[in-house]
Amino acid sequence: MAVLFQKIPTLLHGGDYNPDQWLDRPDILEEDIRMMKKAGVNTATVGVFSWSALEPEEGVFHFDWLHKIMDKLYENGIYTVLATPTGARPAWMDEKYPSVLRVEHDGRRNHHSGRHNHCMSSSEYRAQVEKIDTKLAKEFGNHPGLILWHISNELSGECYCDNCKKRFQEYLREKYHNDIEELNKQWWTSFWSRHFNSFDQIEPPYDNGEHSILGLNLDWKRFNSWNMKDYMVFERKILKKYTPDIPVTSNFMKLFEQLDYADLAKELDIVSWDGYPRWNNDYETVADTAAELSFDHAVMRGLKKDKPFMLMESTPSLVNWNTYNKIKCPGILRASSIQTIGCGSDTIQYFQWRKGRGAAEQFHGAVVDHLGRDDTRVFKEVSEVGELLKKLSPVTGSKVCSKAAILFDWSNRWAIKDMQGMAQDTKNYEKEVLKFYKVHLQSGINADIVFPLENLSAYSLVVLPMCYTMSEEVGAWIKEYVKNGGTVVATYLTAYVNENTLAYLGGFPGAGLGEVFGMYAEELDTLYPNDSNSVLMKKGFTAPVKDYCELIKLTGAEVLGTYQSDFYAGMPAATVHSYGKGKAYYLGTRMKESDLIRFFTPIWKDSCIEKVDMTEGVEYLKRTAEDGSTFDFYVNYTANPVMVTLVKDGVDLLTGKSVSGEVVVEPFNGVVVK
Ligand code: GLA
Repeated sequence: MAVLFQKIPTLLHGGDYNPDQWLDRPDILEEDIRMMKKAGVNTATVGVFSWSALEPEEGVFHFDWLHKIMDKLYENGIYTVLATPTGARPAWMDEKYPSVLRVEHDGRRNHHSGRHNHCMSSSEYRAQVEKIDTKLAKEFGNHPGLILWHISNELSGECYCDNCKKRFQEYLREKYHNDIEELNKQWWTSFWSRHFNSFDQIEPPYDNGEHSILGLNLDWKRFNSWNMKDYMVFERKILKKYTPDIPVTSNFMKLFEQLDYADLAKELDIVSWDGYPRWNNDYETVADTAAELSFDHAVMRGLKKDKPFMLMESTPSLVNWNTYNKIKCPGILRASSIQTIGCGSDTIQYFQWRKGRGAAEQFHGAVVDHLGRDDTRVFKEVSEVGELLKKLSPVTGSKVCSKAAILFDWSNRWAIKDMQGMAQDTKNYEKEVLKFYKVHLQSGINADIVFPLENLSAYSLVVLPMCYTMSEEVGAWIKEYVKNGGTVVATYLTAYVNENTLAYLGGFPGAGLGEVFGMYAEELDTLYPNDSNSVLMKKGFTAPVKDYCELIKLTGAEVLGTYQSDFYAGMPAATVHSYGKGKAYYLGTRMKESDLIRFFTPIWKDSCIEKVDMTEGVEYLKRTAEDGSTFDFYVNYTANPVMVTLVKDGVDLLTGKSVSGEVVVEPFNGVVVK
């Protein structure tokens, strides 16, 4: 079984714990332990942002407090996720080594401030990090309570200092084989006299600098992500040198734009992330918010498909950084915790255990309020989660096994955003990927998120939404998949440009995919928000479409649907083509979710993917253990009891009762059938 931690082979419950903010209050630290046990907490993430408590002056280390805390936690059955404190720097460092401070897009160096404000390339910063991480690894590496290293915190940001500029130039030199003309060709620098004579002439895209070379913009994004990974690997290596057996993670932020997590995750042992959905907002249903959370979980699960992931942070009640900081209504924590486990997480962890008294996050939600009591609504709901996680412990280590997958690619995301064309307001790449996920979710199908070039052998269907930028290599990967019997559904905007944003010649989709799809898109029409068109599908329904319509010409594909208005009425809008042993569908326009479900229904059937009819507001998720036993999760995200027809009879882990046929799922609650 792929349990994450042999020392504690069960679901984890806990979160960020900042005892360093309470070192003058031993009574409170005592009380924390009592309350953690009461809430069913078995893990605490300690040390995030503790640098000034650990090294108050350069070279002066205070580890006693941390020893005491970790010992105490361990004696009480609570394991430690130990963070390197490198997310925020002490003042002494910035005073003495200004090169550690980040330089902004306009070329100005920041002052000492906040957190995540370092130059990842600064050798002075890295020297300080090496010193503290080495000390920590040596000091605590053998502690019996230590289960996981947590590198820094939510790595993020970009630095535009001269040092980073030089590293960018080196990165490009390597990528383009030290051949500046190769770069000029890929970046199409004959445009507007942008030709470079040497790598030394290239600058980052400063606010008041170069932005017209799309290849440069994209390579800068890639460089920044690579540089962050390089930094993360730097920390990882230090920890691994002294504690090779302690796994390493770094907490991600769902589809965070700046970092290609698919690339970073390869360097981590466990994927973890921080989830803060806007529950109970005024623009969507709770079930819609939950569907987005489900998607975010699927993205994180997709980063390491061979094991569960961790929900490292979530708020037990509210956050303090939204425009409106609404509290989570009763039951949401329970429902979302069951859902989170159903999506493949083996942990429910919070930010934060106890509210601090001051500074920026004093009113951020926590398990323990300023009130300090264990009979608050939030404390009781957290304790309830503690109880239900114990009941769900048989799920530990099992996996979500999907037959359907949806491709997501960070480079594509960056390139689409920067592409000059279409409509800036409606490109919506991320939203479209989410839409395809929801189409599956609403049909009771667990879909995985996949990333370019990964092994697709587990999937009978791969959806390729808006794959605008695509290398020949990725094109060949898709071609091979279809040739061997896979089914793909691609959309408008497939393979317009290569990985450096050079347009393909001879018809889109490029990257060698024309023969796979048996069609080409001659034009792309961008619709105004009030424009309308529709597609008459051969399956007998008419689907209104919006935003984008590609005008498709056939080179062998069969037409599945045609446009109904405008001068392109009667032209193909959706096609299918057999290629090798597989099938390649092409959808040249944007449909709404309900019509996509109709579009996909025969495709799922053809791909042996079972559709499960779910009542609205109920999410169905499934995990499978190594011995083949399954866990069916039904989560009710509505305020009413809902009747569901079970996919399989069994025992509900949450009640311990046998269930069969139809069962009632209570409001904001779940049924988990083993
Ligand atoms: C992030 C950070 C935490 C905290 C929370 C507040 O996830 O990692 O340190 O700031 O946000 O929501």
